[in-house]
Amino acid sequence: MDIFLFCFLASVLATSQAATTPHQIHLLRPQSGSSGHHVHGISCLSWRLAVEVDNIRDWDLVPAACENYVGHYMLGHQYRKDCNAAMYVALQYAKSLKLTGDGKDIWVFDIDETTLSNLPYYARPENGFGAKEYNSTSFNEWIEEGKAPPVPAVLKLYQKLLSLGFKTVIISGTSEKYRNVRISNLKLAGYHTWEKLILKPTSESSTTSLVYKSAIRKELVEAGYRIIGNVGDQWSDLLGTDTGNRTFKVPDPMYYIS
Ligand SMILES: *[C@@H]1O[C@H](CO)[C@@H](O)[C@H](O)[C@H]1NC(C)=O
Ligand SMILES: *[C@@H]1O[C@H](CO)[C@@H](O)[C@H](O)[C@H]1NC(C)=O
Ligand SMILES: [Mg+2]
Repeated sequence: MDIFLFCFLASVLATSQAATTPHQIHLLRPQSGSSGHHVHGISCLSWRLAVEVDNIRDWDLVPAACENYVGHYMLGHQYRKDCNAAMYVALQYAKSLKLTGDGKDIWVFDIDETTLSNLPYYARPENGFGAKEYNSTSFNEWIEEGKAPPVPAVLKLYQKLLSLGFKTVIISGTSEKYRNVRISNLKLAGYHTWEKLILKPTSESSTTSLVYKSAIRKELVEAGYRIIGNVGDQWSDLLGTDTGNRTFKVPDPMYYIS
């Protein structure tokens, strides 16, 4: 497609979507940002898609030219629709199975940008939806507030899985020292029960998330659990060993964890 036509259509789409967006989660920014902005010849929409499918890896920050685009995506309809679509497919899969009823069929969930959303934090201007340098001090302060909202589609899947008879195991790279506040945050957000909540021991900080989560899942399998499904926003939640019979990726164009 002609590039000018593409830019024109992209901005028309962005504008018409902004005008008809009734349910923003946290409207902390104006609804601007066109997918037509380019980084090294790649549009922001193509950049986001490449990130989602793990073609672009180990990226550090959202490209500055895509800050508004990513903000618009995260606050608008499309992020929610994409989460809904992923969790719809997960639920169809879950419903198709016949569980043994021995309590060993588990579904693994990640926390950040999966069960809970840090969007109110990333939407702050100084964080730029992941386009600004990560600040562990302010992020940890946000975690300690314990008021991250749920990702609605993931909460819905979680509730349906419980009613289907699955046990849930929540695995996060959050440090153990935040256990109490993470529990109160999960409960506040609507996640009331789990078989296990596994956080990262304070001693274990050098391994990658992929290695850490693979080791945890291996222990679960060795303890006799069957990992039927696994939901995360990072590929490092879903790749490695003992990943589960099926994995489901929820979108996250704001940061990359290896
Ligand atoms: C990081 O966040 C802390 C706490 O909000 C703040 O005091 C500090 O200035 C921030 N650091 C940078 C480099 O922005
Ligand atoms: C999950 O995968 C294992 C190993 O491949 C297989 O034996 C089992 O039947 C699968 N379970 C489901 C529910 O698909
Ligand atoms: Mg996560």
